[in-house]
Amino acid sequence: MKSEAERGHEKIAWARAHMPVHARIRERFERERPFAGHLIGAALHLEAKTANLILTLRAGGAEMYVIGSNPLSTQDEITAALSETDGITVSARHGESLEEHAASIDRLLDASPTLIVEDGGEVIGRIVERGIERLPRLIGICAETTTGVEQLRELERAGKLPIPAIAVNDARMKYLLDNRYGTGQSTWDAIMRSTNLLVAGKTVLIIGYGWVGRGLALRARGLGARVVVAELDPIKSVEALMEGHDVASLNEGIAQADIVLTATGKPGVVGKEALERVKDGAILANAGHFGYEIDKEALDEMSVENREARPGVRAYRLADGRTIYLLGEGELVNLSVADGHPAEIMDISFALQALSLEYLARNGATLSPRVYPVPEEIDTQVARTVLSVR
Ligand code: NAI
Repeated sequence: MKSEAERGHEKIAWARAHMPVHARIRERFERERPFAGHLIGAALHLEAKTANLILTLRAGGAEMYVIGSNPLSTQDEITAALSETDGITVSARHGESLEEHAASIDRLLDASPTLIVEDGGEVIGRIVERGIERLPRLIGICAETTTGVEQLRELERAGKLPIPAIAVNDARMKYLLDNRYGTGQSTWDAIMRSTNLLVAGKTVLIIGYGWVGRGLALRARGLGARVVVAELDPIKSVEALMEGHDVASLNEGIAQADIVLTATGKPGVVGKEALERVKDGAILANAGHFGYEIDKEALDEMSVENREARPGVRAYRLADGRTIYLLGEGELVNLSVADGHPAEIMDISFALQALSLEYLARNGATLSPRVYPVPEEIDTQVARTVLSVR
């Protein structure tokens, strides 16, 4: 039987074979070694594509300290494979407790990184709590997702951002592709593989019609579902209407839905009042970064029993007799019960990360503590490379 690490190496190799943009960057990094002398701390969803980013940065000369972004998205075979690589320290375990995860963030910071790449804004939050003076070598940070970038902007507005930061999420080559088409495909992959149920003919409620919500709605329609959108912004609601979707308030929409998907990045969006209206047998899942969009405490309080119905599917039997199914414990479903975005999408997102980190390594010392966009030439260069390797 194959060991955990062998299975991890196989998964990493499969993703690598489908990440041609990365291959180009890695070849150049091997020659130029832009990260020689750097220690890069990475707090990311630890799956096969991320492993390829980490190996690319390592090829560029960096020592790596790697932790997870969400305990349920860490794949142990990937961490086992990475741990075998010289120059890479890993501190992450699938299903680790919140305390263990917090301890990993502290260990990453104790390692005194020069650069940080993270997903959801937890590391920058901890840096601010601990004080930047404890990180004398730190040059800058790159944030991968909408939620992480919002956190950076809040700190900037409050005058508390201690280091230069690059909002990788806000590059056009990121949100137009990863958030929309990446989450659009991988979320439906997760729902279908965990439930083995039909999507066609079902009513799907998408809550939040940002870049992620647009992709979820687009692919739901492609699978034959009737799509209802609940969005706070009236302009985006009109956009959803013009796309041919139905638009409703959350409470109206949830009463009709067979599948409910959250994609807002905001806490408690599906609270007790909404849960009271969910149809018997409905499936609930979240695609937003944090597992707080569906109020699990309210669901627990309303239910008389919950049990695992299938791997990744929890059945809640409510006091009023309804049964509601929650996928992936309400954490981001495409990474908690599936393998995350397709390799070709992460090839692009992580190319932006690798080049933005290189930009920080070369220029960070001259930048002030602000949130910077990904330089336009990097966004365009990645797009050109994608076109040239097709
Ligand atoms: P966005 O900011 O483009 O869209 C969020 C939308 O939700 C906005 O239009 C906002 O008006 C709406 N919204 C907020 N509160 C609402 C409420 N109570 N009811 C209805 N609508 C509400 O953000 P984006 O890029 O779509 O990302 C959404 C979340 O998904 C973030 O947490 C982001 O980090 C995460 N994300 C997850 C990925 C995954 O792999 N699962 C990939 C990319 C992003």
